[in-house]
Formats: sequence, structure tokens, C-alpha cells
Amino acid sequence: MTFRRIIVLTGAGVSAESGMGTFRDKDGIWTQHNLEDVATPEGFLRNPRLVHDFYNARRRALRDAKPNAAHLALARLEQVVKRSGGDLMLVTQNVDNLHEKAGSHSLLHMHGELARVICASCGARGAWDDDLFADTECWRCGATGVRGLRPDVVWFGEMPYGIDDIYGRLSSCDLFASIGTSGEVYPAAGFVHEARRSGAHTVELNLEPSANHHDFGEGHYGPATQVVDEWVSGLIRKIEV
Ligand code: APR
Repeated sequence: MTFRRIIVLTGAGVSAESGMGTFRDKDGIWTQHNLEDVATPEGFLRNPRLVHDFYNARRRALRDAKPNAAHLALARLEQVVKRSGGDLMLVTQNVDNLHEKAGSHSLLHMHGELARVICASCGARGAWDDDLFADTECWRCGATGVRGLRPDVVWFGEMPYGIDDIYGRLSSCDLFASIGTSGEVYPAAGFVHEARRSGAHTVELNLEPSANHHDFGEGHYGPATQVVDEWVSGLIRKIEV
């Protein structure tokens, strides 16, 4: 069977081998930082400086990070699917820009982006590669502090981006693949159920079986640079016959 409407969900595991770190693994980011302090609106109001320090360090790490074989394989898959008249949407929970660097175009950052900022007062949004400080002024309204610029990332308790679009596509997809995510964070962890409801084939690719691996029709386990590359190559062979 050739798939024509594909949704790929990615998480931190796809960027692990590019050095971006995962959240819930041993030595993961949430074992070193308290997520209530650095990834909630309340944490930002309490201590904006701590939050800026955390995201400034991650933004700096991103500057030198390079896409790996998994990002490149997914960009290749998008090209082949589009050439064959199909549609592929890559939905990432990652705030890095490694899918873009690899050449993916049909991409939705549901948890926002590290290299962008948004103003809490006027809503101005834009690209941001530098460090951000509590006294950095918004270029549009001049606001500073907790009413001014913040990383354009979705914190716990906030609404992810593009949810209506994602659910719309899930309701008509024929293949759903979940790559490098622990399946612990909703709504992304529930996408597999929506896809199954539409009759889609479902695949999990991860270092090890995730919390909801039983929900998937197929699973491939190992480092993303190997399993994603192999899975994509197999899919492309089927699409191109
Ligand atoms: N290849 C494939 N999978 C890997 C690799 C690798 N090299 N290394 C780790 N993994 C897997 C882990 O086994 C784990 O199941 O990637 C998954 C990463 O899970 P999390 O750290 O929970 O990351 P993620 O699922 O993306 O987290 C979701 O939580 O804190 C929030 O906003 C943050 O977007 C993030 C969300």
C-alpha cells in the first residue's frame, strides 16, 4: 500500500544525536532543571532572569548544532511524497531548527521555536538569535521585563500552536509516524489515537518502546539516525515503484 497523506510527529529523540539533549531520559534536561521554574508562565513571572538564562544557553547550543541522518531522511521523504502527488506534514515538539536546516518545508512547530521571541504586551513575534534579557526592549512597543519579550516557546499550561490544523489532518491521514518522543506529554501523546480513529497505519520509531507503544501498529527501536533512515528508505522504495 502506498501512503498519500502522511503525518510525522517528532520529539527530542530525533535531535538527541545532534547534541540537543532529551527531557525525560537519565541525565535529561528535566533532571537538571525544574520544569516549573523554567517552562511555565508562573516560573517566568517569579524569576524571568532564570528563565532567560536557561533559554539563552539552549539558543547558543543550537547555533552550532547540525541536522543528523534522521532529520535529513525526513526532508528526503517530504520531497519524494510531494513529487508523487501526496502530502506530508511534519509536526515537531522540538524548539530547535534542525528540521529546517535539513531542508524540511512542510513543518509545524507545535511547541514554538527557540530562535524566535514574542512580546507579552503587544504580541510582536520575530526571529531572535541572540541572548535575551529582562531589560531587552520590544522593538515594536518598547515593553521590558515579564510584560516584554519572552522566548516564543509553548510552556506547560499554554496552548500548543496549530492544534486545529493538526487534528484536521489527523482525521484524514493514512500514515502516522511518531519519532523520538516519550509519549508523556499531551496533546501530542494522543495524536496516535486520532490517527487510528481515521484508519491510518501507525508507526513508532524510538530508542526504546515509549509509554504508549501498544497503541502503534508497527515499531522500530534504536537510535534515530539508524532506524529513521532505514524506515524512510523502505517507504521511499514503496512510493517510487
Ligand atoms: N534516537 C531515538 N530516540 C531517542 C534517542 C535517539 N538517539 N535518544 C533518546 N530517545 C528517545 C527516548 O527514549 C525518549 O522516549 O526520545 C524520547 C524523548 O522523550 P522526552 O525526553 O520526553 O522528549 P519529548 O517526548 O520530545 O518531550 C515532549 O516535553 O518538556 C516537554 O516541551 C518539551 O517538547 C517537549 C515535550
